[in-house]
Amino acid sequence: MLRPRAMCKRWIDALDSNPLLGLQLCMSIKTPDLDAAYGLQSPEDNRQLYAEWAGDYDDGFAAREDYQLPAHTARAFVAAGGQGPVLDVGAGTGLCGAILAGLGVGPIDAADISAEMLERAMRKDIYRDAIETDLNQGIPAPRESYSGIVSSGTFTHGHLGPEVFPALLRVARPGAQFAISINARHFEEKGFDLALRRMAQGQIENLKLPQVRIYGDLAAGPHKDDLAYIALFEKS
Ligand SMILES: C[S@@+](CC[C@H](N)C(=O)[O-])C[C@H]1O[C@@H](n2cnc3c(N)ncnc32)[C@H](O)[C@@H]1O
Repeated sequence: MLRPRAMCKRWIDALDSNPLLGLQLCMSIKTPDLDAAYGLQSPEDNRQLYAEWAGDYDDGFAAREDYQLPAHTARAFVAAGGQGPVLDVGAGTGLCGAILAGLGVGPIDAADISAEMLERAMRKDIYRDAIETDLNQGIPAPRESYSGIVSSGTFTHGHLGPEVFPALLRVARPGAQFAISINARHFEEKGFDLALRRMAQGQIENLKLPQVRIYGDLAAGPHKDDLAYIALFEKS
């Protein structure tokens, strides 16, 4: 798929030779959306899409779709007794961190592959540190740095799978509370059940999997009824 910068170059070239075709190309440029995000194939795709989406993510997508998952995740973390220091995994623009901070949890660090999303998160003045990393490659933080790990909306189609869990466990202290949201269909498709059961044999305890609606009553898009699990557990 051509990204807007490449599309614009084609538009300018086309405009030179055929104004009508140029206009049609211009109108085909789309803002990133959920379907584009679910169709991503690689970390590099994620980096590119979220570079474009960062500026509009909160006021566009999150507001329009009445996006509730960050609040569900933060509240579940606190209800389970979670405390700082916390790592927000795939923090994006900081929607989950903002709710956590409002509930009195801190300090919170943000990890994300997208410099642009992290830049938006840091503007909210709630995070101690921003860690730009591809989570598939690990987390550049010392072992056992965190008493809590949260993640909202990042374990989903086209993003992260259960293979990232060992990196999360490495930076968590013994007893650390996890609250990791996982899109329900992605959960079935990517074998999260098996991965969590294996971890429950010595690496984690008190596993619970409540289900929540990702979007609120104001959502109208095709994903308005999508569900997520919130994997709540403690590191052994
Ligand atoms: C749907 S957004 C969720 C953001 C935020 N947690 C929320 O609930 O609004 C997914 C985030 O995961 C990040 N992401 C995707 N793939 C990643 C990877 N391989 N490593 C780190 N972050 C990644 C994206 O940059 C994006 O900020």
